[in-house]
Amino acid sequence: MDPRYDVLDDAARLARQFVDGLGERPVREAASLEELRSSLGRPLGEAGEDPRTVIAELARDADPGLIASAGPRFFGFVIGGSLPAAVAADWLTSAWDQNCGGYVAAPALSVVEEVAAGWVLELLGLPARSSVAFVTGCQMAHFTCLAAARHAVLRDAGWDVEAQGLQGAPDLLVLAGEQTHVTVQVACRMLGLGFDRVRLLPCDSQGRVLAGEVLSALAAHDGPAIVCAQAGEINTGAFDPFPEIVAACREHGAWCHVDGAFGLWAAASPARRDLVAGLDGADSWATDGHKWLNVPYDCGIAIVADPDAHRAAMTSTSPYIPPHELDVPWGFDWNPEFSRRARGVPVYAALRSLGRSGVADLVERCCSHAARMASLLAEEPGVEVLNDVVLNQVLLRVADPDAVIARVQEEGTCWLSGSTFKGQAVVRVSVVGWQTTAADVDRSAAAIVAAVRASGRPG
Ligand SMILES: Cc1ncc(COP(=O)(O)O)c(C=O)c1O
Repeated sequence: MDPRYDVLDDAARLARQFVDGLGERPVREAASLEELRSSLGRPLGEAGEDPRTVIAELARDADPGLIASAGPRFFGFVIGGSLPAAVAADWLTSAWDQNCGGYVAAPALSVVEEVAAGWVLELLGLPARSSVAFVTGCQMAHFTCLAAARHAVLRDAGWDVEAQGLQGAPDLLVLAGEQTHVTVQVACRMLGLGFDRVRLLPCDSQGRVLAGEVLSALAAHDGPAIVCAQAGEINTGAFDPFPEIVAACREHGAWCHVDGAFGLWAAASPARRDLVAGLDGADSWATDGHKWLNVPYDCGIAIVADPDAHRAAMTSTSPYIPPHELDVPWGFDWNPEFSRRARGVPVYAALRSLGRSGVADLVERCCSHAARMASLLAEEPGVEVLNDVVLNQVLLRVADPDAVIARVQEEGTCWLSGSTFKGQAVVRVSVVGWQTTAADVDRSAAAIVAAVRASGRPG
């Protein structure tokens, strides 16, 4: 064995130590920004250092600044952990170092991604003919899907946006609910459709867009239109009324895009499948592997029902790129990146290691932990559960959300984040980690109740 690669064994050992300790280390970081800058910062040496020293010291110096977000009691944002098979596949993806932009540079991994894409479509109940791109996250999945949408609706209006850009193009209406995730608007900003020009429509108490508002906005617009619906609102986990929205889009020739960053995975659980009824009739779907599927960062998934529109919006070529048949998987036909990491490989490993029942169980487990958390917290007089807990998100009203969040984070048993929902400061609990158990929920609920009581003000 070539000793230059001993550092890979070191990394595997250090990674193992970290993941083995995830369940018991405090969830919050132990070092301040200043401490991290001081331990990690140094002048770049003229001479290189021994790789084994570099990795040993990197792991030592980073450790106090690591958050146990891959562990069982991290409930902030919507983050999730990493399944062992997915982490291992991710390491191999790095070691193999294939450029999955083109089949000729990454034959095996292009096929791995193709297979993983098929499994994703099957699990999520989406049309088997759809095209799939493994991108960096849901943000770029929106970008990719909405680029395909922009292509198709402008093509239908007689405009070639890829060739002509947007100057002089027909007026394109983009609709979304007022609770749309910011990344939908950011994708529109990047696509030249304008952040502020996304028309935000009223939602109900759970953050679901009102279908009648979608219908009347489309009826009042004569021209190309895109509707961005949502499967899994970031605060409440609620699902938009897809049958009505899809029907309105069909009636008015609009493209229906779905933000399903985490909520799309409800489709993989027979017990939750009702929530996504009608969603398969949409035109594109954006989701993440790095949230509920528990693959490591970064991994988003863009899915488009019309592969021609998807390819037209993304494909690139150059005289030095060999021509290829359409049925040969070439990453840069579908992805915004040219050179790219094979992000679908950890998805392949995660799905194989879980199997269909394992994915369903992961989704169901998280949902029942969220329900358990909600009922434990609802017993506390200073806490009000604001949402119908239909999925994995729990939204809480407490008297002083900032103080409660700060206390919970400081104490270290678990980690929560906050938000503003319908003008009200709230605390959010999101359960997406594969390791979370009922005992973790009980321990965390006790820590949250203690923080509520210690924060003083009555609810
Ligand atoms: C509903 C929703 N959409 C989009 C995103 C953005 O996803 P990403 O961070 O992977 O870009 C998130 C992230 O939490 C989300 O919850």
